[in-house]
Amino acid sequence: MSKLLQPAELGLELKADNAIVWHEDDLYLLDQRLLPQRGAFLPLRSLTEVAKAIRDMVVRGAPAIGVTAAYGLVLAARERYAESPIGWFELMQQDFDQLAAARPTAVNLFWAIERIRGLAQGLDGNPEGPLLAEARRIHAEDIAANRRIGDLGADLIRKPTAIITHCNAGALATGGYGTALGVIRSAHAQGKVERVYADETRPWLQGARLTAWELVQDGIPVSLMADGAAAARMREGGIGWVVVGSDRIAANGDVANKIGTYGLAIAARHHGVKFMVAAPTSTIDMGLTNGGMIPIETRASDEVFSCGGQRVASEGAHAWNPVFDVTPAELVDAIVTEKGIVLKPDAGKLARLVQKG
Ligand code: MRU
Repeated sequence: MSKLLQPAELGLELKADNAIVWHEDDLYLLDQRLLPQRGAFLPLRSLTEVAKAIRDMVVRGAPAIGVTAAYGLVLAARERYAESPIGWFELMQQDFDQLAAARPTAVNLFWAIERIRGLAQGLDGNPEGPLLAEARRIHAEDIAANRRIGDLGADLIRKPTAIITHCNAGALATGGYGTALGVIRSAHAQGKVERVYADETRPWLQGARLTAWELVQDGIPVSLMADGAAAARMREGGIGWVVVGSDRIAANGDVANKIGTYGLAIAARHHGVKFMVAAPTSTIDMGLTNGGMIPIETRASDEVFSCGGQRVASEGAHAWNPVFDVTPAELVDAIVTEKGIVLKPDAGKLARLVQKG
């Protein structure tokens, strides 16, 4: 593995907003597997290293994977152009394929690949400069989208309340600011967040390791809870909203997100708690008519057998480890995107939303 760098070596402070960095011709990712104990950057110098970093969870979260993929393709284009200034684009086909195979569920990965591919195929001469400019644009657009999502989502929260969130949909999971945590950040700035209850999110513990870290950094009160505690917490009262991100939204409004989200949505409906999905339009896949068509990633059994790197499961047990689930649109009260809010989503409303300029 390449040598990890301290944030100061890149001239940075350790902050969730500085997790994907292009510095002096290379890509650096804040290694999310080490947080919150350690904040260190992994340098990436090739497309193969970027695909591996996505697969191995150095970077995770749908929009962050998309932004990383865009920068990764700049590294690929540099290498391919050096190999063949004439045939570099044809050579890049294998890079597009390698990257697309890294993780299957977050559609932002495929969206970013198509955006870079679309620009690359029309380029003459050295592609590195124009592709880097496009990757930077994708990154900046994601941050701007999250700010807008934050403001729109906060408007839906009418009065001070406690909020439940699941997994990490913060600055770390995006280009910066966050989708679900963007809504929470904006609502907190308006005095409308009494407390955030963050599911710890087994097996990778994104809630405990990442969401809690981000919220503590921002001075937003956060209580961690075991994933199975959410329904009981709703029954206690005082929870106005569940706010989550998404990895892919089908054309009818069905929402794929971290495993456990579906159960949270069922519990929310049962207890009269509103359920909000915050995601950029790059997460909407109009090519899939419903959530049953969303490819759901299954990861290694070892992730369930262990906790914090320590085996906890009985030898001889099997495991089932789908890492996302699909929440049907009928359980979703609002999908909040940078183009606007869709209440009680359905196919017609989503089609009208994505057509907006
Ligand atoms: O497996 P992960 O950590 O990549 O899963 C991430 C999630 O499920 C997030 O909630 C989702 O990507 C929304 S991120 C803004």
